[in-house]
Amino acid sequence: MQYTMLGDTGVEVSRVCFGTMSFGGDADRQTSAAMYRRCRDAGINFFDCADVYPGADAAGVSEEILGSLIRSERDQLVISTKVYGKVGPDRNDQRLSRRHMMRAVENSLQRLGTDRVELYFLHNFDDLTAMEESLRAMEDLVRAGKILYPAVSNWAAWQIASAIGAAEMHNWRRLACLQPMYSLAKRQAEVEILPLARARNLAVISYSPVGGGLLSGKYGRKARPGQGRLLDNAMYKKRYGEGSYYELAERFSRHCAGRAVHPVTVAVAWVMANDAVTAPIVGARNLQQLEPALAAAELEMDPDWYAEVSALSPAPPPAHDRSEAAE
Ligand SMILES: NC(=O)c1ccc[n+]([C@@H]2O[C@H](COP(=O)([O-])OP(=O)(O)OC[C@H]3O[C@@H](n4cnc5c(N)ncnc54)[C@H](OP(=O)(O)O)[C@@H]3O)[C@@H](O)[C@H]2O)c1
Repeated sequence: MQYTMLGDTGVEVSRVCFGTMSFGGDADRQTSAAMYRRCRDAGINFFDCADVYPGADAAGVSEEILGSLIRSERDQLVISTKVYGKVGPDRNDQRLSRRHMMRAVENSLQRLGTDRVELYFLHNFDDLTAMEESLRAMEDLVRAGKILYPAVSNWAAWQIASAIGAAEMHNWRRLACLQPMYSLAKRQAEVEILPLARARNLAVISYSPVGGGLLSGKYGRKARPGQGRLLDNAMYKKRYGEGSYYELAERFSRHCAGRAVHPVTVAVAWVMANDAVTAPIVGARNLQQLEPALAAAELEMDPDWYAEVSALSPAPPPAHDRSEAAE
């Protein structure tokens, strides 16, 4: 396993982060424990969670399972969790008000069985709460030692840049880490988020490197597995609903077969090969799925291979229309 610095922090993390969204959902406690152990044996010290995992109807269960697994080795780990999703019956049991965040962090720490998390993510942008209210709440949590570094997920670049400006103005601990979606199938982050991260030395731990299963080799124009998130989960079904995703999946599988490397390994390695990415967050429902994701940490993707894989899907259009100026 390789390790790298987490953005501008002095913390070293493994180049693969394991996402625990399946804990207590797609993976029962025993399978979750086996995956955790396998990750630790592979050298992973970095685990991502959220208060809402494994889903709104079982919110908190993933944190609780992760908490039970990390107890004996907490100080060797870098743990992240998130706030925003609806975690209770009340209308205020969600979003990014100071009121909700202060309660949510206590509940997360209790379930995780720890007195602090390294990274605390605002899981989405909240249109109904002033950004400075949420950022000030984060600052207070940093000063109280309950969270060590503030972070955001699924924010647009202009929102991230505004947050950095506000932190500089108020002398708050600025954002340390971003968590965008990023894979060969979803490349929007290349336009503004990854360049912003490079320019400001923000860590990036991107999620869904396998497109939630799309790039695992089991999907194609006509091919569908018996079971899978893209078939069973309405949100993911919609996210990857267009036929072009399945055409890409087929092209990608063919490419990987030609190289005799598991598609999951190539999909994760391609994300890792981007110099703005600190660590992709990999997900799995069992040990068998996990193995090829871990193998990506050992794969050296040279520039020619990287270019070949990149050419399989269209690069997103640039951030402004004066594109001829870049040539
Ligand atoms: N910030 C956010 O909004 C956000 C959103 C999503 C995820 N995340 C984080 O990122 C982590 C990873 O996200 P993700 O689960 O979407 O990542 P992913 O690696 O793109 O997708 C993982 C899924 O792909 C399928 N898969 C993986 N390996 C496979 C294999 N070898 N063979 C066949 N199928 C395979 C499995 O789903 P099936 O078996 O169902 O096909 C598995 O659950 C999560 O655990 C979470 O921590 C964050």
